Amino acid sequence: MKHIHGYYSPKDLYNSIIEGLKKVGKDLSRVTLDDLQPVDEFHIRGDVATKELIKLANFTPEMHILDVGCGVGGSTRRLSHRTGCCVTGIDLSDEYIDAADKLTRLLGMQERVRFHAASALDLPF
Ligand SMILES: C[S@@+](CC[C@H](N)C(=O)[O-])C[C@H]1O[C@@H](n2cnc3c(N)ncnc32)[C@H](O)[C@@H]1O
Repeated sequence: MKHIHGYYSPKDLYNSIIEGLKKVGKDLSRVTLDDLQPVDEFHIRGDVATKELIKLANFTPEMHILDVGCGVGGSTRRLSHRTGCCVTGIDLSDEYIDAADKLTRLLGMQERVRFHAASALDLPF
């Protein structure tokens, strides 16, 4: 488990993302899901695949979804935004969870999107 944690734990990730947003001229009080998309979805086909999966799953707003291995939470936020569901993301990497939490607050989505550092093999729920 340690090697996975080490691989997925870049230092100071949130501040690096913020610096990147500033560099491309984004107003931090108006950051959108789409602004973050180039850096917050670590899977093949990015948000296109996320949107397709959300459609296929037929989520309804009263559901509470668990996103296991959520990374910095791009799909977690997208899922909540598209469906109205509460979504909890968990990831082994506390650095990712810290960035996920701060990015979610930056977007004002913290009411319905929460994160915990945890392993899929030892869920805290
Ligand atoms: C390829 S990334 C995908 C992240 C995210 N789902 C996305 O699409 O943007 C895989 C993630 O799974 C996490 N992970 C790997 N093993 C895990 C485990 N046992 N429990 C929780 N998270 C795990 C890693 O830390 C990493 O953030």
